[in-house]
Amino acid sequence: MIGKNLSIIGGSGGMGQVFGRYFKQHGFKITIFARNEDKLKAVAKDLEVEYELDLEKCVVNADIVMLSIPIHSTSDMIEKIAPMMKKNSLIFDITSLKLETSMILHKVHKIYPINCVSIHPMFGPGIKNLKNYGIIVLRIGGTNQYDKIINELLEIFRSDGIIITETTPDIHDSRIAITLGVPHMFNILFLNLLKRTNKPLTELTTFTGTTFLLQKVFAESIIQREMEMFGEIQIENEKFHEILDIFEDLIKEYKKVIKNKDLNHFKKLFSEALEYSKEDTHFEDSYKYFYEFMKILKGKKV
Ligand SMILES: NC(=O)c1ccc[n+]([C@@H]2O[C@H](COP(=O)([O-])OP(=O)(O)OC[C@H]3O[C@@H](n4cnc5c(N)ncnc54)[C@H](OP(=O)(O)O)[C@@H]3O)[C@@H](O)[C@H]2O)c1
Repeated sequence: MIGKNLSIIGGSGGMGQVFGRYFKQHGFKITIFARNEDKLKAVAKDLEVEYELDLEKCVVNADIVMLSIPIHSTSDMIEKIAPMMKKNSLIFDITSLKLETSMILHKVHKIYPINCVSIHPMFGPGIKNLKNYGIIVLRIGGTNQYDKIINELLEIFRSDGIIITETTPDIHDSRIAITLGVPHMFNILFLNLLKRTNKPLTELTTFTGTTFLLQKVFAESIIQREMEMFGEIQIENEKFHEILDIFEDLIKEYKKVIKNKDLNHFKKLFSEALEYSKEDTHFEDSYKYFYEFMKILKGKKV
């Protein structure tokens, strides 16, 4: 049976708070750690959990240590705390990139008698109910109790209707380059493109009824979020660099189509995109969803 003492490194951050609240509801005794004392105390008070300013004290008696700190600090933190952790305890990170973190977890579980798993929640700090959201799981390895401990953790998630997908670091990072890197990039570029036209958004908005409005709201919701993390997801992921090359070729092709007034090639690109998306489960009702979203926006008189 998995122990109930759970420490969250980075517990005062957005995702740390989501999981602090979540595991508390599941009966765990939570202790949070971070560097900024004032914020740590305020979050601990709000979540009604313990806090600890001494890293070693925070992890030494923990049954589970969760890492919820920026991607670039996670590997060093794993190496630092692994020797402090007790026998048969579990460590997991939630970073958005997995190649490096999983390599370090592989390294430490071979040296220390601890259990390691790496997870990636497919949601952000704004989440209210985790049902039907996904968590990507990468099994790393550990002691002879490994399978029992990991399955217990995953069963907690499954009991709330969370969808678990198991994969490898390589597949994870290549898919994330597409599912996170690409939409983030498009929305950053969308707003920058508009800015470079030198037209204020309020003025542009009066010239739209639907598509632009929805796209604009979507981009605005992205641009208010974690700038540093979005940067790391694209910059530090080699797989995203490969996507950029494909995108660059596509833009060149598209530009040629438009400049050469090549309607046939335009139709080809259009039809290929249509055929590709027809496979998708949301395809058939997508226009209906579009007007559902519009109802929300128009109701608010945006
Ligand atoms: N945000 C998302 O949508 C999302 C989704 C899935 C996964 N993730 C992953 O979740 C992790 C956390 O993201 P977040 O959005 O919650 O970040 P965040 O809001 O910036 O929180 C980061 C937390 O880590 C602490 N921290 C930062 N550097 C530290 C260090 N060197 N040592 C100890 N504590 C440190 C911060 O507090 P102090 O600065 O006071 O130390 C804070 O408590 C990242 O790895 C990210 O890739 C994020």
